[in-house]
Amino acid sequence: MRIAMIGTGYVGLVSGTCFSEFGTNVVCVDKDEKKIEGLKKGVIPIFEPGLDTLVKNNTEAGRLTFTTELEEAAKKADAIFIAVGTPPGEKDGQADLSYVYQAAREIAAVIEGYTVIITKSTVPVGTGREVERIIREERPDADFDVVSNPEFLREGAAISDFMRPDRVVIGAESKRAQDLMAELYRPLYLIETPILFTKLETSELIKYAGNAFLATKISFINQMADLCEKVGADVHQVAKGIGLDGRIGRKFLHAGPGYGGSCFPKDTQALAFTARENNAPVSLVEDVISYNDERKRRMAKKIIAQCGGSVEGKKIAVLGLTFKPNTDDMRDSPSLDIIPILQSKGARISAYDPEGMEEASHLLSDVSYGKNAYEIMDKADALVIITEWNEFRRLDLSRVKSLLSSPVMIDLRNIYNPDEMKEEGFEYLCIGRPL
Ligand code: UGA
Repeated sequence: MRIAMIGTGYVGLVSGTCFSEFGTNVVCVDKDEKKIEGLKKGVIPIFEPGLDTLVKNNTEAGRLTFTTELEEAAKKADAIFIAVGTPPGEKDGQADLSYVYQAAREIAAVIEGYTVIITKSTVPVGTGREVERIIREERPDADFDVVSNPEFLREGAAISDFMRPDRVVIGAESKRAQDLMAELYRPLYLIETPILFTKLETSELIKYAGNAFLATKISFINQMADLCEKVGADVHQVAKGIGLDGRIGRKFLHAGPGYGGSCFPKDTQALAFTARENNAPVSLVEDVISYNDERKRRMAKKIIAQCGGSVEGKKIAVLGLTFKPNTDDMRDSPSLDIIPILQSKGARISAYDPEGMEEASHLLSDVSYGKNAYEIMDKADALVIITEWNEFRRLDLSRVKSLLSSPVMIDLRNIYNPDEMKEEGFEYLCIGRPL
């Protein structure tokens, strides 16, 4: 079996590489010549643990190749994945599908023999049907099926999420397309991964409903954290106490500064848009979106309050800028809301992030960056942890205290223990736990 993966962004590159690791011949296609030249030499354009080794091994084995020539790649492929970007459009949270439809037109022009065309990008309900219509219009004679196969991998854990998924969802309506997809995912049958075959629309909606549910779960525990702070309860234990109920589950119940990233914010908006358009508004999701936006801003107020009500002229040291650890992705990161508010109130910001500083330097202004966690703390009036990178979990606390001009620590990810921090002599603030 040969597959073509159109788009070498996050989803395209990871899934193309992982399919090749499963033994399938994969050609990854992208219009960006520089990116493709780099990939041919093993230069990985994103930070994702383990991806470089997989790309290298599979390129050397000849199963994984890179090209800018869509025609050549698509002509020979049994299956063509569309994994191009779907950025937020101009209209009220609606995803911009122009790249998807453009890819569909280009594919239509070149396919030969029976071909399955699969949308891998996160696309709103109805997109698969439109792709089908476009290809049929361009090539009435073509023998093809359109399939939806959303991706559920998380940045930072993408390889293991792809290799050992909780489930695979395939919106395929013909027996031929179902058989081809089943063959493609055959390696996962060995580990008994549930494979769910659905209609196109159902598969598309599962992707959005899944992300919106997880965003809701996070927002729920964040609201519980707010309440815990008022009534003296501990959100860690509340999360554990409810999460042990198998109907609720323990995952995605970590209170924090609000969710960010390239998926939850964009996908909740797009789902809310689709729902409004179809006269079935998802008011719960709309509430989650506005609560989360407000929460990120509220974190800045929390920091200011902990700094005695003002950060005017103060130096604030920030650890962690990316939206979560193990990524260099800054998209919709809480740091992008929190830092500018602190700056607008007169704070000077020094920051350190293991992978995100290059990207952050284009998105934030007037931030001084350090080479390591300790360098930024010198004479700072407070230390704020925004992202829970492992290397921040066991800081040398006496060194931290000696560097800071006052021992104020605001831990927005709850990675330290309030009792221990008190013992160490810190004025410590965390999320939803009694102090
Ligand atoms: C998310 C989903 O988890 C993936 O299943 C999905 O495939 C992906 O979106 C996508 O649609 O492409 P990702 O955005 O990489 O993955 O990151 P997550 O690990 O889900 O974290 C998202 C945000 O929620 C982060 O800002 C994280 O800090 C926050 N979060 C997560 C919490 O605040 N608390 C939690 O308990 C979990």
